[in-house]
Amino acid sequence: MKRSLRGVCSISARECRVEGVDSPCLDFSSNNYLGIADHPKLKEEAIGWIRRFGTSFKASRLVSGTNPAHLELEELIADWKGSEAALLLGSGYMANTGLIPALAGRKDAIFADKLNHASLNAGAALSGAKHIRYRHNDLCDLRGKFATFNENRLVKKGGGDYGSEGGLVIISDSVFSMDGDIADIAGLAELAAAGNAALYIDDAHSTGVFGEKGEGLAKPGDADVVMGTFSKGMGAYGAYAACSKTLRDYFVNKCGSFIYSTAPPPGVCGAVSAAVRLVQTPEFREIRGRLLELAAWFAREVAALGFDTGKTGTPIVPVIIGDAAKTVRFSRYLLDNGVLAVAIRPPTVPVGSARLRLSLNAEHTKEDLSKVLELLESGAEKVLSA
Ligand SMILES: Cc1ncc(COP(=O)(O)O)c(C=O)c1O
Repeated sequence: MKRSLRGVCSISARECRVEGVDSPCLDFSSNNYLGIADHPKLKEEAIGWIRRFGTSFKASRLVSGTNPAHLELEELIADWKGSEAALLLGSGYMANTGLIPALAGRKDAIFADKLNHASLNAGAALSGAKHIRYRHNDLCDLRGKFATFNENRLVKKGGGDYGSEGGLVIISDSVFSMDGDIADIAGLAELAAAGNAALYIDDAHSTGVFGEKGEGLAKPGDADVVMGTFSKGMGAYGAYAACSKTLRDYFVNKCGSFIYSTAPPPGVCGAVSAAVRLVQTPEFREIRGRLLELAAWFAREVAALGFDTGKTGTPIVPVIIGDAAKTVRFSRYLLDNGVLAVAIRPPTVPVGSARLRLSLNAEHTKEDLSKVLELLESGAEKVLSA
């Protein structure tokens, strides 16, 4: 089925207007988990930066696009993430397609979770490294693939690609974007240390949502590079790499999407700066706690209706239907009844696992969730058994 674009206007984190639909809908489709994409502090600071610096930083960072404010913002991010240094990047997609080819090349090997985000796979493909995919969240499979690879490359020593001089990189999402489940980061870190591999974690969907200060799931000592986005829980745009000073310097010299692209613009940086400070406040610690509690309750209730919700532990609750056409019809049924929850189909998810991806945010109420539960129950009868 061909995909097409449709206009959606946000009314609040809770509600939106969908092109072609008369009444406002409950929005269960955005990644605005903390509901801060229209927070006054983010708007004010974005406008403040535009007033001070204009609408563009006008050049790439290595040319003349590095404003001292970028460097201060990177220090703020490093402090929040608990890393030695941080680097700002244009977007999450740009980060993964620039940082990974900087870390790994033709003689190296990347071990990647099968359900990693498309941008991580694109980064791995661009790197030219051997791309070995292990079963989702299966550290035994990863350990086995690691051992086999190491045995083979000893045999091949001196024989060309992937020789013993090649480096190894393990890459995983921390929260899987279409399933809402969580990687065993400590286990990955242990395996990486034992196998002398670098560890790269994509913390996009946990940034803002997890951690005492909303800093995400990957702890500083866990991974060599923790990248994350400001486009989801942080209500803004852009991305970061949290790493050592040495690696930051290396990326400044080797990461193509950093070197050859214009610096993140003032409006975006202003919103990011406000969001990083906002999510560290006690108010947002409480908001995170409430959101995660509500999400856990909702996932249990959806499962109790007989739906497969996988192993979610986050505000992303997949309702796995399987058949793509039925999933699209179910999504339409929800929309006709005032709930926007998009159908996610292959190739975004594996064939046979099409799903409704419900993402909760801090402004959803228990009444909103009860309405969705009622619709899932009635839809099961009207759409799935029809
Ligand atoms: C896990 C993950 N990484 C990276 C990205 C890309 O981030 P951005 O939207 O900032 O380009 C996404 C976005 O969907 C994502 O889910």
